[in-house]
Amino acid sequence: MYKAPRGAADILPEDQPYWIYTQQCAERVSCLFGYQRLDTPTFEDAGLFIRSVGAGTDIVEKEMYSFEDRGGNTVTLRPEGTAPVCRAYLEHGMHNLPQPVRLYYFAPLFRYERPQAGRYREHHQFGYEALGDADPAVDAEVIEMAWRLYQELGLKDLSLQLNSIGCLACRPAYLSRLKEYYGGHTARLCRDCTARLERNALRLLDCKTEGCLRMGESAPRSVDHLCVECKAHFESLQSYLRLMGLPFTLNHRLVRGLDYYTRTVFEIQPAEEGAQSTVGGGGRYDGLVEELGGRPTPGVGFATGIERIVLNLKRQGVAVPPLPGPQVFIANLGPGARNEAVSLASQLRAAGVGATLGPGSRSLKAQLRQANARGVGQAIIIGDEEVRQGTVVLRDMARGTQQYVPVSDLLDALRAAQRTRKDE
Ligand code: HAM
Repeated sequence: MYKAPRGAADILPEDQPYWIYTQQCAERVSCLFGYQRLDTPTFEDAGLFIRSVGAGTDIVEKEMYSFEDRGGNTVTLRPEGTAPVCRAYLEHGMHNLPQPVRLYYFAPLFRYERPQAGRYREHHQFGYEALGDADPAVDAEVIEMAWRLYQELGLKDLSLQLNSIGCLACRPAYLSRLKEYYGGHTARLCRDCTARLERNALRLLDCKTEGCLRMGESAPRSVDHLCVECKAHFESLQSYLRLMGLPFTLNHRLVRGLDYYTRTVFEIQPAEEGAQSTVGGGGRYDGLVEELGGRPTPGVGFATGIERIVLNLKRQGVAVPPLPGPQVFIANLGPGARNEAVSLASQLRAAGVGATLGPGSRSLKAQLRQANARGVGQAIIIGDEEVRQGTVVLRDMARGTQQYVPVSDLLDALRAAQRTRKDE
């Protein structure tokens, strides 16, 4: 028997209300903030991600699903959504539009990670990007939008962690300080961090291994090494967040796992601790569009994992609205009744009434049990006798009451029954 690949999951019908609820909230919030939807391909040229996410990152080094297609091109299943949006921005000349261009997306993403609760090899994100404006008010807008989304979803006890990791001008000096600090204590570092020290010293700050964690506590802080412009940007962002009443915590060890970030980085975490618990993260990436061949274009964005949202909705017992199911179930007994049931189901659907056909081979009792399990309001019961008389039995499932209705009056009777149910 085949199973879903390790780290990939089916989204079963019983989970769909959570997914649809999340998507609807995200769409509503996107509209509220004036973001427009952009869909990009599931795979891209591998170079796009190596260039943007960074050659020394876990994603590029260990996690990309890359392969050569039959034409000899090396393509990669999208591991993240920001680089493709920047690629599309450039490809479609969006720099000619009024800036910033505000875009959002829903996308499946692929990372060859070690699967565990909340961490999958295929996961889904809702993300959004604002391209073409360096103003810290746009950083604040992106953060506010994330916060509003979680509020709309009904999630509680989240914390907003904030940091600034500087720009290409001031970061090199900070990185030297970091390397100096950690370089003097390599014996205490984990193997990964010893290897990362030269290539990607920032990542040492968020390593969760005990020795590295302890060293991180007194490591030099990026905020103490910001240039005048980065410092002003960060202060301005914080003042906007205070103005909006958004509570945030400065986290000097927040650095994020992708190389394209400049200045602002932020994450949103539920009260429960742990790396897998982060529900969403983002930041500013002012050099990315240029790195991909465009002219200097600032950008800032955010993405949240849908699986992690669903996990938290369930954990916190948030009630999501059920999806509308069929309104009527057509139980039928006997060969003549089967024909009538098939035809009636088709006529009802054409009239906009959701109808499910019962399995005529089963007993009436079994069919009504199915009707009950599906949660329909009304069952229509047809036997050969009803066919001869041109009637059906209409059963109110909640009350258990039944009445004979001529087929010609059925639609009116169903609508009346629905109205009564709505009024109750
Ligand atoms: P990221 O932090 O790699 O950022 O992913 C964003 C969110 O996706 C995470 O906070 C988490 O909720 C979810 N996520 C990531 N990996 C997995 C996984 N393996 N399984 C389940 N959920 C996962 C980015 O991807 C950036 N592109 C975000 C961004 C947009 N920055 C600026 N704009």
